[in-house]
Amino acid sequence: MPVITNIDDLKRIYERRVPRMFYDYAESGSWTEQTFRDNSADFHDIRLRQKVAVDMSGRSTASQMIGQDVAMPVALAPVGLTGMQHADGEMKAAKAALDFGVPFTLSTMSINSIEDVAEHTGAPFWFQLYTMKDEDYVRRLIQRAKDANCSALVITLDLQILGQRHKDLKNGLSAPPKLTAKTIANLMTKWAWGIEMLGAKRREFGNIVGHVQGISDASSLGAWTAEQFDPSLDWKKIEKLMEQWGGKVILKGILDPEDAKMAAKLGADAIVVSNHGGRQLDGALSSIRMLPRIMDAVGGDVEVHLDSGIRSGQDVLKALALGAKGTYIGRAFVYGLGAMGQKGVTTALEVIQKELDTTMALCGERNVADLGPHNLLVPQDFCGRWQE
Ligand code: GLV
Repeated sequence: MPVITNIDDLKRIYERRVPRMFYDYAESGSWTEQTFRDNSADFHDIRLRQKVAVDMSGRSTASQMIGQDVAMPVALAPVGLTGMQHADGEMKAAKAALDFGVPFTLSTMSINSIEDVAEHTGAPFWFQLYTMKDEDYVRRLIQRAKDANCSALVITLDLQILGQRHKDLKNGLSAPPKLTAKTIANLMTKWAWGIEMLGAKRREFGNIVGHVQGISDASSLGAWTAEQFDPSLDWKKIEKLMEQWGGKVILKGILDPEDAKMAAKLGADAIVVSNHGGRQLDGALSSIRMLPRIMDAVGGDVEVHLDSGIRSGQDVLKALALGAKGTYIGRAFVYGLGAMGQKGVTTALEVIQKELDTTMALCGERNVADLGPHNLLVPQDFCGRWQE
């Protein structure tokens, strides 16, 4: 087994092991993928301030997200089709997160169902909600998340319609994969994945199949989103969903200070500054570049989290130092999962925690809560000189 020292090591194994269709699904941004690339690249524009002769003993990455204790402020993001990256992927990722002490967020578009994950981990997790035209289905979905004891509802606001990712269309992305000549040729090189997948609890969208009728193609994310997602979702409807849920709510997919103000006004427990990993509006600015403006707008009113582009503990540190209280990794844990199942997710979390802890120490800090702009060197025009 190769020695894993960073997230890219996991990505290389992941690429070899998982069918191309699912690798491409995770590794795509929409259209030109500019925002997808910027999300990670922009972290590198921010530099760190080295501090020496500070007592480094007794460091801790422990913190809180929406009032819940976390071993480090890094949650697993909701990722569709996680159970196609590895057999029982959501169950395994959730268990790895639980054992590590960080939140796991289950996507509506998961393979394992809400009930599978609840049964497997026996512990509360967060559920990410996509809103559908079928209000009755949404009501039942929310009730299922309540019955499963989910401790937060993460409502995604930036995917009422699906951003176009060219590769998914060309590959005919589906769960399970449709057996075309091209897919079969690729699957034949992925036998370990296939053998494990034969024993998987599910190979279809577990929150959907068996819970709704009359869908033209229940295996296609593209078909389902086009037919079922609610394009009329607005703040009024969001408020109604929050009332229906009645528990902690995280509003995800906010990239604009005015939207952030609305979310805070509605009483969200947290917002996630996010452009959906560059998978929705290509051409939008990166999350990390928008974070300072959103902090200025609502930093005192609501807990702010960030996702999109995080591939290391240094990235986490930069987001925290700019004011985020929590962060999320999506692709970074998927690489680990695809590479080595549950152990790979644990490895991804360990890699990120070690990077965060060591960087914190070299910046002269002992606790994540003490991180701030004083730890960073941010280019003067980092937030951009865009005409408003
Ligand atoms: C769904 O959330 C996707 O980005 O594919």
